[in-house]
Amino acid sequence: MLVAVAAAGAAIGLTEAGILRIIGALVGSLETGDTTITIGPFDQLGVGALVTAGLVGTLVLVAFRVGETALIARIGVLPLTEARTQLAAAFLHADHTAQQRITAGEYQEMITAHTMRLSSIATATATLVSAALIAVALAVVAAIVALPTLVVLMVVMGLLFVLTLPLQKLAQRLGRSQASANTALANHTAEMVQAATDARIFGVTDEFALDNDRQVEKTSDLVFRTKAVEFFGSSLFQALMLGVIVAIGGWLAARNTGDFGTAGTVALIALRAQMAGRRALTANLSIATSAPFADELSTAIEALRSATATSGTRTIGPIEQVELSAVGFDHATIAPEPAGPDQTATLPVLRGLDLTVTAGEHVGIVGASGSGKSTLLAILLGLQAPHSGTVRMNGVDRADCSAASLSSQVASVAQRPVLISGTVQSNIAFHRAIGRTEVVVAAQAAGVHDEIVSWPDGYDTVIGERGARQVSGGQAQRICIARALAGKPSLLIMDEPTSAIDDAGTRLIADTMAALDRSCAAIIVSHRADALTSCDRILKMDGGKLVYPVS
Ligand SMILES: Nc1ncnc2c1ncn2[C@@H]1O[C@H](COP(=O)(O)OP(=O)(O)OP(=O)(O)O)[C@@H](O)[C@H]1O
Ligand SMILES: [Mg+2]
Repeated sequence: MLVAVAAAGAAIGLTEAGILRIIGALVGSLETGDTTITIGPFDQLGVGALVTAGLVGTLVLVAFRVGETALIARIGVLPLTEARTQLAAAFLHADHTAQQRITAGEYQEMITAHTMRLSSIATATATLVSAALIAVALAVVAAIVALPTLVVLMVVMGLLFVLTLPLQKLAQRLGRSQASANTALANHTAEMVQAATDARIFGVTDEFALDNDRQVEKTSDLVFRTKAVEFFGSSLFQALMLGVIVAIGGWLAARNTGDFGTAGTVALIALRAQMAGRRALTANLSIATSAPFADELSTAIEALRSATATSGTRTIGPIEQVELSAVGFDHATIAPEPAGPDQTATLPVLRGLDLTVTAGEHVGIVGASGSGKSTLLAILLGLQAPHSGTVRMNGVDRADCSAASLSSQVASVAQRPVLISGTVQSNIAFHRAIGRTEVVVAAQAAGVHDEIVSWPDGYDTVIGERGARQVSGGQAQRICIARALAGKPSLLIMDEPTSAIDDAGTRLIADTMAALDRSCAAIIVSHRADALTSCDRILKMDGGKLVYPVS
């Protein structure tokens, strides 16, 4: 497509030069009083014919310009769409650790602002190609009209390019700072949106606003400096070029060669070339500012791609046995000073942990906050790989089991419920081929059916962050339990709902356990032993191991 833009640029340049030559010739005829004009090999041209040719040339020019604009716009959209698709695919397929490393703010900044910069680079590159070709075409015509003009034009263009190199470096440095300042602002904004309610309750709204203003100030200052560099570069170029045009005019006059028409044409072409050069320079600076954004984006996509989640190929049926033996796991953390923030340290969480759960068995896990219960569940779910020991499902190493067969057998309810924007039906079915009847059965088992049917649109009520109906924390938790049950798993893994840690939470867990028939094994984490009365066994997380029994 760039070749098409180059062709359009050359066509525009040649057409423009032709029109400028006609204008020059008409101006020349004014001076000499001739009614017939000679342009190159064409002589005896009437004024009327020249004007007609000029007007036709203008129409052709408009057509070329429209084509060029459409091409440049198209070139701008392609990388935008591609990068957005690729980033999302790389993120969704990356492993749990890589996904956790990216904050919501960072991801949003990349998918919106960073990809837009990619679009700017593409548009600017196309503009640069077109402007360069326009300049070349004009220069060629200038050379035919008066060869020395071309030499002067080329020398000056080269000089100016060298002059603007430091500006480009500066623009690139500013772009880098802008990329990190924007990401910081995006992160800050995402946090601010989440913490707004607490800010109100704690009476620190103004402090949040001040903090926000400081971040905004940083980004605005960088935008100001970038714009200043762009405008300065373009104005400097224009001023110097005008000087050059005056010099060429003076030189032509001093030599007293050529006619008025030729001199006029040269001046017009030089002016027009100056405009094309300025356009190219602005495009160049815009590429320099946007390049760091593109670099960050491709680094992020590469990092996510290199962490693509892997899956085994062994298909497993309903879960007969889950066996963890001598499992050890350390969380990677940032080392304390003086090792420095770049050094990572490890926090041992699980130490030689053993656990065997058989078909239909219900096991409760209790333990102090921070003792590693959620970490254990993450390993069971394959979100983290154990650093030592083995995890086997039906005797097969978990890492060798196919992701699809595990997903159809193992379901989980996370500590924090996550709803998607959509109907209750779509939240429970969750992009799986699960019909209304199964959804209703799951909702009944999760104890949320009666509430759902009391809402005006029942299972078609739109919930989620942008939903028409805001559901309560407990309702959200039970909808997530229904989501887990709807797939008819043979192993349910449930982390205690923090949103309902009181009696309601206790009841929620007890009800869920009661609703599970014995075709489904369950591993349930809770702080409260009384939530786990229907469990066959209750184990306590202590010192990185599961100890038994708990009194
Ligand atoms: N992603 C992580 N990176 C580093 N350390 C982590 C990470 N997640 C948890 N930890 C640390 O590992 C330890 C165990 O955390 P975990 O979430 O498993 O505890 P928990 O028993 O589920 O606690 P709670 O009952 O409060 O939910 C904690 O000390 C925590 O600080
Ligand atoms: Mg936890």
